[in-house]
Amino acid sequence: MVEISSYHSPPRSLPGILPAMLFALFKPYGLLPSLLSSALLASVAKTYDPCAKIGGLTFVDPADAIACQRSIPFNETVRQNVMSVVSRVFDFYTFEDFYLESGPPFPETSTNIRKHLKLFNEKKYATDYDFNLDLWAFTTQLNDGHTRWYPNCYLTYQNILPAPIVLLDKGVFIAPDSVQFLRQLGKDFINYLEAKNFDWKRFAGAKVLEIDGFPALNYIDKIARTESGNFLDHNVRVNSVVSGYRLAQTSFSQRLGDLAGPIFLTRTSLDIVLIPRNSTTSQRVVFPYVASLTGTNFTNKATYYSNNCAPTNETNGVDLRSSASGSSQRRPILARAARLDPATKPRTALGLPRPYLPTLNPTNGSSGVIKSFVLPGNKTGVMFVGSFDGNFTQFPNDVVAAINDLQASGVTNLLIDVTNNGGGFVCLGLYLHQYLAGSNFGTSAFESTSRANPLAQRILRADIRQNLNSTNSFYTGDNWQFVNGSKMSQTDDYNDPSVLYIINNRNEPTSQRFEDLCPLANVTLPESPPFDLSNVAIVGNGNCASTCALFTTLMYELHNTTMVVFGGHPDLPIEFKGMAGNQVLEWAELDSEIKTAGLKQDPLAPPDLIVNANMRHNWRTAYSYFDKNTPIAYRSEQPQYRFPYTEKTYNNPQNVWLFTEKKLFGNQ
Ligand SMILES: *[C@@H]1O[C@H](CO)[C@@H](O)[C@H](O)[C@H]1NC(C)=O
Ligand SMILES: *[C@@H]1O[C@H](CO)[C@@H](O)[C@H](O)[C@H]1NC(C)=O
Ligand SMILES: *[C@@H]1O[C@H](CO)[C@@H](O)[C@H](O)[C@H]1NC(C)=O
Ligand SMILES: *[C@@H]1O[C@H](CO)[C@@H](O)[C@H](O)[C@H]1NC(C)=O
Ligand SMILES: *[C@@H]1O[C@H](CO)[C@@H](O)[C@H](O)[C@H]1NC(C)=O
Ligand SMILES: *[C@@H]1O[C@H](CO)[C@@H](O)[C@H](O)[C@H]1NC(C)=O
Ligand SMILES: *[C@@H]1O[C@H](CO)[C@@H](O)[C@H](O)[C@H]1NC(C)=O
Ligand SMILES: *[C@@H]1O[C@H](CO)[C@@H](O)[C@H](O)[C@H]1NC(C)=O
Ligand SMILES: *[C@@H]1O[C@H](CO)[C@@H](O)[C@H](O)[C@H]1NC(C)=O
Ligand SMILES: *[C@@H]1O[C@H](CO)[C@@H](O)[C@H](O)[C@H]1NC(C)=O
Ligand SMILES: *[C@@H]1O[C@H](CO)[C@@H](O)[C@H](O)[C@H]1NC(C)=O
Repeated sequence: MVEISSYHSPPRSLPGILPAMLFALFKPYGLLPSLLSSALLASVAKTYDPCAKIGGLTFVDPADAIACQRSIPFNETVRQNVMSVVSRVFDFYTFEDFYLESGPPFPETSTNIRKHLKLFNEKKYATDYDFNLDLWAFTTQLNDGHTRWYPNCYLTYQNILPAPIVLLDKGVFIAPDSVQFLRQLGKDFINYLEAKNFDWKRFAGAKVLEIDGFPALNYIDKIARTESGNFLDHNVRVNSVVSGYRLAQTSFSQRLGDLAGPIFLTRTSLDIVLIPRNSTTSQRVVFPYVASLTGTNFTNKATYYSNNCAPTNETNGVDLRSSASGSSQRRPILARAARLDPATKPRTALGLPRPYLPTLNPTNGSSGVIKSFVLPGNKTGVMFVGSFDGNFTQFPNDVVAAINDLQASGVTNLLIDVTNNGGGFVCLGLYLHQYLAGSNFGTSAFESTSRANPLAQRILRADIRQNLNSTNSFYTGDNWQFVNGSKMSQTDDYNDPSVLYIINNRNEPTSQRFEDLCPLANVTLPESPPFDLSNVAIVGNGNCASTCALFTTLMYELHNTTMVVFGGHPDLPIEFKGMAGNQVLEWAELDSEIKTAGLKQDPLAPPDLIVNANMRHNWRTAYSYFDKNTPIAYRSEQPQYRFPYTEKTYNNPQNVWLFTEKKLFGNQ
């Protein structure tokens, strides 16, 4: 059992913030707060607007930003609304009962979800921030990136530590490229640190011995255990604590990592004991965090609230049957997205600094989310698949163009890089597998289920009664095929009868099994695999989320594809993928299903949210080919090869590919 108090380290600086702020306020008069009458104090607290101090600024002291966020009072009406939405969304969560007793290999998640929701419903909170931090930390620690509470009101700043951490073969370091990397934040960021007289550049490449009083690696483990979330496997989370390369949409980029870039502000500084690069003696440095605005600009508390916390026209779902609700803009996309991060707002995206960018010329088909290259020697081709969040025309065309180009170059080995791949459309993952396997292999999709709770059963029944179809609903049968491969019709009710499903001695009835149906029929597939499948390998860091997890599982389970994972805590095993749900529904999407079915008045239906937030959940589970009773998410699958990052390969995709080519295929 996880105890409430262990969800997150209490924000260290919080207790001191308000008094310190008042103290600063009174300093000019030379008075101590304790000498002032409590009435005067109260009136100052009432009129002082902590948001006004930071309004309009991009980089601010996190203590000031937290003071602004904590100035929003706790409101019981808001809490009741939020908890009622959250608990009713959990009714649809396919993995709920798995949490009651979560044994090996993912032991860190055992928890009683309902018991905690009850507690959040009753606990006394000083501010709305504290309530949201509890709910945020709790859902984060379910370690399922498809199931999380996102309170946009408190995700308005990214907390940037000017010391992105990397984990290399020789230990923990501040990323050697941190100067070129962080400089991209611009002169306001640099000026902010200069004004504090903090020489952050001096520590690039420093060896890190201790963080916050813990040996560095233990601290990384602690953040992985208590803050990172998203992935069931601890060591996959270790790799998300640290900084690493990825594609952000279609550009090479570098993640700050969860330690150097958390999106819910709690810390204001971090103590690090390190040995600077050109030194042999260790020193203790207090690194300041810098809060970087990612929310909507504001000028004071009132506009902070109205711009970031009040619900918008996109917070809740709409009844897609009525054209008056702007339904043409709000229809679900035909195929189902499953992304790591709903990314409703642009976050500071930092490019991969130049020395780390691949110097090889990309092949054809490299303008989207796939970048492909021929390694020197013309024996090995690389497809860096940054995500499956591509477009349904371009993604398949890029696969064809890249593979044609690689084949024209005469390469016989294929390396697919899925480092920090955040997922995307299930059908694009199935397509890439299908193309690599060839049409003679036959089609392949996963068996899946959603929960057949009473409201889910009523939704599907109401959809059928009203003759709705996949244009307006994910529930209707014409979205899916039966497990025998024939298409379902829009009148098939796969929730009736529901199927008994006993997990941890609880029955959580599910739908009958069905499979994804992908509208990609126009794209011609090769009959046989374009590359001998025994010469195809997949390389990554385990941060291979959602559709990426489904794609790599298909390759591994159906073709015994060689998997290579870099990084992680060297003494612990690591999975090659994580967050293998099958389909996520954002809150607005689930709400649209309910409204479109005409069931918003149902006693089990959640109300509209009255704050700007999202409660997403894993709506559908995919099962392993090896064991059709086990969700892919809960099946342990480890890579055949593991390597630590080195100073040469960390953050350097081309060097990762060259190193892997040499290890796997023996090429120079
Ligand atoms: C926010 O708004 C202020 C005033 O309108 C403007 O000066 C400032 O540049 C804006 N800041 C950001 C980060 O957009
Ligand atoms: C609490 O929030 C509700 C809904 O936004 C609002 O109507 C009410 O005035 C708030 N209560 C207080 C005491 O501010
Ligand atoms: C360390 O020394 C090298 C060579 O003397 C120099 O180029 C580099 O800038 C120094 N690095 C730091 C972080 O001071
Ligand atoms: C929501 O409002 C914004 C700004 O008013 C508008 O641009 C957007 O299209 C609206 N979205 C929907 C789904 O109506
Ligand atoms: C690889 O192919 C390129 C372009 O076709 C060619 O110029 C180069 O000589 C080849 N390299 C080797 C080692 O065969
Ligand atoms: C497939 O072809 C049809 C008709 O030519 C077109 O409408 C549809 O958009 C195409 N689908 C994709 C995914 O390109
Ligand atoms: C998909 O990409 C094609 C170009 O490859 C472009 O014409 C089309 O507009 C894109 N579709 C969407 C929905 O972005
Ligand atoms: C790359 O694309 C161009 C333009 O479509 C085409 O002419 C060329 O043949 C392609 N090259 C290869 C090697 O496929
Ligand atoms: C769904 O139903 C609507 C309205 O009856 C119709 O216009 C649309 O073509 C149908 N869509 C599909 C995918 O069958
Ligand atoms: C596939 O399964 C469905 C549901 O069990 C059944 O109705 C259908 O006849 C089957 N189709 C084929 C071709 O066997
Ligand atoms: C899978 O590949 C490994 C080598 O990577 C081999 O030892 C094993 O026998 C293969 N398993 C199957 C089922 O082909």
